[in-house]
Amino acid sequence: MTAQDDATTLFEQLTGQSPDGIWSAPGRVNLIGEHTDYNDGFVLPFAIPHRTYAAVGMRDDGRIRVASTFADDAPVEVALSELATLFPTPTGEAPAVAEWAAYPLGVAWALQLAGAAGQGVDIAIASDVPVGAGLSSSAAIEGATASALNDLWDAGLDRTALARIGRRAENEAVGAPTGIMDQMASMLGEPDAAIFLDCRTLDANLIPVGIAEAGLAILIMDTRVQHAHATGGYRERREACERGAAIMGVPSLRDVSVDDLARAEELMDDVTFRRVRHIVTENQRVLDTVTTLRESGASAIGDLLVASHASMRDDFEISVPELDTAVESALAAGAIGARMTGGGFGGAAIALVEQGAVHAVSDAVTAAFAASGFASPHLFTVTPAAGARRDA
Ligand code: GLA
Repeated sequence: MTAQDDATTLFEQLTGQSPDGIWSAPGRVNLIGEHTDYNDGFVLPFAIPHRTYAAVGMRDDGRIRVASTFADDAPVEVALSELATLFPTPTGEAPAVAEWAAYPLGVAWALQLAGAAGQGVDIAIASDVPVGAGLSSSAAIEGATASALNDLWDAGLDRTALARIGRRAENEAVGAPTGIMDQMASMLGEPDAAIFLDCRTLDANLIPVGIAEAGLAILIMDTRVQHAHATGGYRERREACERGAAIMGVPSLRDVSVDDLARAEELMDDVTFRRVRHIVTENQRVLDTVTTLRESGASAIGDLLVASHASMRDDFEISVPELDTAVESALAAGAIGARMTGGGFGGAAIALVEQGAVHAVSDAVTAAFAASGFASPHLFTVTPAAGARRDA
């Protein structure tokens, strides 16, 4: 059974009827540009073939009910008029509903705040995006739900507006202080392209990556170390970036260039400076990666990926031993480049590998994990895939 079938079956079990439609949105992987999004900087993610499906049907009693195949708990049901009493979730607190339900309910709430309104709905969700792997399973839920309600409620919002709705749900309903990269990648993905996004203006340009044409593959190395961004390290990194920008007297670290780093080092403590240096150099690496892809193709970006990982490991300090082992063992086995991807503290790394070497690199990574006593990683290749859409 596919995830689309699972969503349909769950909907039928829930309501005894067929859904009015099925919408889906993908997870994403980020090629380069980490923690730059909430600093108004640049990112280069692409949507992956793994998707979350929402089977949705209208109901006429003004209530919204959500169910999911990946949550053991019962469906959650509230009146649409009550959403404003559940959200926003105060900073640092858990949502008033189960966290999985806060994503789709938060999207409905954020759409209401944007002026959208409509009938009650039943929503059944199923997904094949690995959860907790740093592949944006949450943006996929948000994108599928936002697309469905946008159509059913005739809200007429464009993809960028729907990405903002998803981000608002994540920030204010779930309480995770994330940027907008994941939602934009999930909404705007196209086969064979990465999305070069300016997170200040939300200008998005599709960049052909030509990975398959160059005889290459992107290998995802899911460490299966679970991470969460609502708490802890992610929030601390964000605060350090805000501190650094304030010391530099600029609205965000987007406004600090590599040439400014010597002055930054004089003005701030060592930890804040290293956080700043990661963001400033990472923004430059995204720009360099786009130029390199255009001029020389995917086989030439390996060094930029490796430098990005080193910066996250040493300056931003968001890697973990499993991620470092994945990157190092992939490179030692011949990968052209490798880096952790996503928010860090667990999740996945990517490796850029010649197609003929995928097996050898995978075997080497698996062996390195076993030798270190880590749980076996989950390894698979991905190609850039389509963004959110209506499937049925
Ligand atoms: C998570 C967040 C994104 C982004 C990345 C790090 O995926 O959801 O907004 O900050 O981490 O690049």
